[in-house]
Amino acid sequence: MTHPEKQLATSVLVIGTGGAGLRAAIELAERGVDTLVLGKRPRSDAHTTLAAGGINAALSTMDVEDSWQQHAADTIKESYLLAHPDIVRTVAEQGARGIGDLERWGMPFAREDDGRISQRFFGAHTYRRTAFAGDYTGLEIQRTLVNRAAQLKVPVLDTCYVTRILVRDNVVFGAYGFDLETGQRYVIHADAVVLAAGGHTRIWRRTSSRRDENTGDSFRLAVLAGGRIRDPELVQFHPSGLIEPENAAGTLVSEAARGEGGILRNADGERFMARYDPERLELSTRDRVALAAFTEIKEGRGTPRGGVWLDVSHLPRETIMSRLPRVYQTLLELQMLDITREPIEIAPTAHYSMGGVWVRPEDHGTGVDGLYAIGEASSGLHGANRLGGNSLIELLVYGRIVGEDAARYSAELPAQRRSREALAEARAEVDELLAADGPENVRALQRAVRDTMTEHAGVVRDETGLRKGLAELDELEERITQVGVHPDLAGYGDLAHAFDLKASALAARATLEAALARTETRGCHNRADFPELDPAQRVNLVWAGPGRIEREELPPVPDEITALMREVSSEGKLVE
Ligand code: FUM
Repeated sequence: MTHPEKQLATSVLVIGTGGAGLRAAIELAERGVDTLVLGKRPRSDAHTTLAAGGINAALSTMDVEDSWQQHAADTIKESYLLAHPDIVRTVAEQGARGIGDLERWGMPFAREDDGRISQRFFGAHTYRRTAFAGDYTGLEIQRTLVNRAAQLKVPVLDTCYVTRILVRDNVVFGAYGFDLETGQRYVIHADAVVLAAGGHTRIWRRTSSRRDENTGDSFRLAVLAGGRIRDPELVQFHPSGLIEPENAAGTLVSEAARGEGGILRNADGERFMARYDPERLELSTRDRVALAAFTEIKEGRGTPRGGVWLDVSHLPRETIMSRLPRVYQTLLELQMLDITREPIEIAPTAHYSMGGVWVRPEDHGTGVDGLYAIGEASSGLHGANRLGGNSLIELLVYGRIVGEDAARYSAELPAQRRSREALAEARAEVDELLAADGPENVRALQRAVRDTMTEHAGVVRDETGLRKGLAELDELEERITQVGVHPDLAGYGDLAHAFDLKASALAARATLEAALARTETRGCHNRADFPELDPAQRVNLVWAGPGRIEREELPPVPDEITALMREVSSEGKLVE
């Protein structure tokens, strides 16, 4: 049987059209390197557009005492020492340069009257360090990067679903995929591949990711290519996700709402953060605020629908309109709720994969030659708790670094060696799914994976639940082999969902196995059966496939940074 495959060739292939992928592509294009960017949704609507409240860099525009060292100290402290010190240093030190790039390309940052970039507080930052554009910072960053990429004439295919990265003897030579509308198959030959396809938070039921986003694609693509996943169990639950409507459950209410003075109350009207972090209250770290809200709900002080209240109605209307316009609009659209008058009902929502593809600190290479990972697909900056605003700056800093290194790698590659077997395997996988006519429904199984993860690997976990989760996943994996896939006139979405499902199952297994192996409570990872942080577990858990976890030591934190790490009371850190 012959296959109508279109052959494409480029020096560097970027998978993912969000901010990380575009930033890397811009760097490559500016260096004159032939680049192709692929994505599974329109670039103007990539997940980066949802990033709300801001982007961090120690610009010292508001608080002159700030420094990159303090930014690094806050990041490492709040990662519960699991962030890689070299990655943190790189991001903190080069953050101002990342902001400068955006400014040069026209990013409309909010500014003070004298023209300085405004910076606001985000949870657990020592100083005002979060630059922003209203509460739609990610949207403006994405627009800025899309425009810059267009100026540079970077080719972008945004209806292409990648099913495999092609590898020969641990060296990348391209990727395989298909067009979501026409089903046209692609074989793309490339010297280097940059994986920027996001995280895995859509495998929980309440999540700030939309349908078909962050389904774990990066995990699957990397692992099948020979890469590994660092700390998949470390998933950030953001405290403020909407509860209703059900089909938008988990939609984010930006931390900017608390940054601007929003107050959290339980159903009894009590400002409950006073019990969990009396010093920082609503501006405590995300893991603490999420756990506090979870505990209030669990102990019966939640709203009838299972949430708590976030109230901004005491703020001046002008503040809400200029600083929180998207929250205002979203609540009106989804609930007909006027936040200038009424509180918002919220509960924790799966928001960010702090773990991800294992990468080297110096260049975000994955250990598979020519394969890089960046943005939420990668790992190392956030450890067990991410500071809000750090992900946007990370993608600018490492997008540039990866672009630079991939350009060097491609230029120095003596020859591109391909493998017919790898290509045949990729082709056979698509053929097999297209022929699949089993009784199981892909969407129903996606929902079942999300139910399992929500039930057994949520804000608080324990061994019994995690083992049950793994047993359920065994059954689901069996059912996944029985799916029916039916592309129709509307396109090849069903085929893409089947691949998403495979990716989600792999990401779920990595998460459950690592969550079981981390027998301590640290940051976002709350083990009810191991409620204490265990200093001996200051290690990364690196997952290389079912049952294969290695513990990787982290380097010490430099003295200059340790000296700036403030002690914060852990009173109120509750695990039931
Ligand atoms: O709440 C927020 O605006 C989210 C920001 C972030 O996750 O960095």
